Amino acid sequence: MIGEKKSLFSGMQATGNLTLGNYLGALRNWVTLNEEYECFYCVVDEHSITIRQDPAVLRKRARALLTLYIAAGLDPEKNCIYYQSHVSAHAELAWILNCFTYMGELNRMTQFKDKAAKHADNINAGLFTYPVLMAADILLFQADVVPVGIDQMQHLEITRDIAQRFNGIYGDVFTIPEVYLGKVGAKIMSLQDPTKKMSKSDENANASIYLMDDPDTVMRKCKRAVTDSEAQILYRDEQPGVKNLLDIYCACTGKTADEAVKEFDGKGYGELKMAVGESVVAVLKPLQDEVARLEKDKAYIDNIIKTNAERANYVATKTLRKVQKKVGFPERIR
Ligand code: TYM
Repeated sequence: MIGEKKSLFSGMQATGNLTLGNYLGALRNWVTLNEEYECFYCVVDEHSITIRQDPAVLRKRARALLTLYIAAGLDPEKNCIYYQSHVSAHAELAWILNCFTYMGELNRMTQFKDKAAKHADNINAGLFTYPVLMAADILLFQADVVPVGIDQMQHLEITRDIAQRFNGIYGDVFTIPEVYLGKVGAKIMSLQDPTKKMSKSDENANASIYLMDDPDTVMRKCKRAVTDSEAQILYRDEQPGVKNLLDIYCACTGKTADEAVKEFDGKGYGELKMAVGESVVAVLKPLQDEVARLEKDKAYIDNIIKTNAERANYVATKTLRKVQKKVGFPERIR
């Protein structure tokens, strides 16, 4: 909690092309919550370098992501939208929290295991301590709530454990954050293998709908989506491909699974796929138009980057100073 309102923190990596999963699982919920909380939305560029990046591409993607946050409906006057690397307190707090996190806890992180398997030639220490930096992000802003998709749940749990451990030693320093999962869309699956989550890093471009895909591409990917041979449209775990399409449809239209199942009663998979594609295009098109409009306004975006980083720095430094004092670092002489 900061000031009068409860606070909210979330972030995304500017790595790869953002997918419909990122939008439906996270960004869309950020927009619905932004009136209720004091919000901090971060482009987590420091997390991105745990995997090798082309510097020019990372810079470009980071800016595109920040623009996307605004295009999605987050008002930068009311919300703090900024780059992680512009606020040095993230890295400083992460160091301190590293000293309150156990190797055994980090060893259990499934995302580390997955990424280490995928990037066997670069299993760096940053990849291993990634969840500690994420804990620092959240705890710096005393976040009450963190809206994310299901895949980030384990990282939220370790954040809570670290915060509780620290508070147990030094008193109430950190707010213990709660996770916020949307009712639909918290885990959008791959269109080509509906037992896997839709991911930016999937090598098969047909597996993911990217936020910047044009309408024809979206329709084509939906038409090619893997289903099954049951020939019935029901919302159940035994039909993961159909269930995922219904999830996407419901998330994009606001309908419930029951309503969608009734609507497609007696219809074929072809019709379902068309309807899903159209519902996705209806969501993505306005978003893409707004991104294109904002990208032209360089001065406006530059000003947001500057002023919002100042605000984020102010809030983050307050928490950092408190933590530094608690652990016994000498006071600054003014
Ligand atoms: P990232 O960049 O992988 O994903 C950003 C957000 O999108 C959600 N998401 C999904 N939701 C539903 N279905 C999917 N298929 C899907 N794929 C991704 C993620 O759950 C996430 O909410 N470690 C984080 C970034 C981060 C962060 C933080 C988040 C760093 N610090 C502090 C919250 C708070 C990550 O890599 O997300």
